[in-house]
Amino acid sequence: MTADREAQKRLAAERALTYVEAGSVLGVGTGSTVAYFIDALGARRGLIEAAVSSSEQSTARLQRHGIRVRDLNSVGRLSLYVDGADECDTHKRLIKGGGGALTREKIIAAASKTFVCMIDAAKRVDALGKFPLPIEVIPMARGHVAREIARRGGNPVWRDGFVTDNGNIILDVHGWRIDDPVALEADLDQITGVVCVGLFAKRPADIVLIGDSVME
Ligand code: A5P
Repeated sequence: MTADREAQKRLAAERALTYVEAGSVLGVGTGSTVAYFIDALGARRGLIEAAVSSSEQSTARLQRHGIRVRDLNSVGRLSLYVDGADECDTHKRLIKGGGGALTREKIIAAASKTFVCMIDAAKRVDALGKFPLPIEVIPMARGHVAREIARRGGNPVWRDGFVTDNGNIILDVHGWRIDDPVALEADLDQITGVVCVGLFAKRPADIVLIGDSVME
C-alpha cells in the first residue's frame, strides 16, 4: 500500500466525520480506513452518543477511545453508517469483506438510512470483480458452495485458517468480471449454506468519498 493511498484513506475518513450528527448513534464498519475514521471520531470526544459496530476489531478500537458500543437490536434504524470497501463501481455498488466482516457490515448497511463509503482512488473500477469476491459460508457447506460457484464460472479459494466473528468460513472467488452485480448477488444469496455475499449491489453506498472528494 503506497503512502498516497494511505493519505487518501485518512482524508476520506476526516471528510466522513462531517456527515456525523452530534448526539447520534452511528453505524461503524471495519478495516484500515475505518480505523482512521474511529481515531478521528475518538479525537472528537463526546460527539456521538454511541456506535453500533460491525466487528470485534472495530468494537475494541471504539472502546479504546471510550466510545460506547451498543447492540443493533437496542437502537432501531440508524441514520448513518460509515465504512470502507474493497472495490466500488460507477453506481456506488461495492465489493466488501476483504477483512471478513461482510455479514455484520451488510446488516448495519441495511438498517441505516445513509451509507457513507470511504475509499482511495485505486478502488474505483468500471466493473467489479478484479478484487476476489468474499462469501461467508457455514463451515459444513464449504464444498457444496464451492461447487455451486465453480458451476457459475468462479474460482473459489478457501481463506484457510480464517474464522469470521460469526464462526463461519470465507470463500474468496477469483476470476469473475461482474457485469450485473444485482443479479449475481441475488443468485448467490440463493445457494444453501451461503450466509452473506460480499457484493453490496442491492443496497449500494449512498455517498462515496475518495480521498477528500465526493464521487458524483
Ligand atoms: C471488511 O470486511 C471490509 O469490508 C472492509 O470494509 C474493506 O475490506 C475495506 O478495508 P480497508 O479499509 O482496510 O481497505
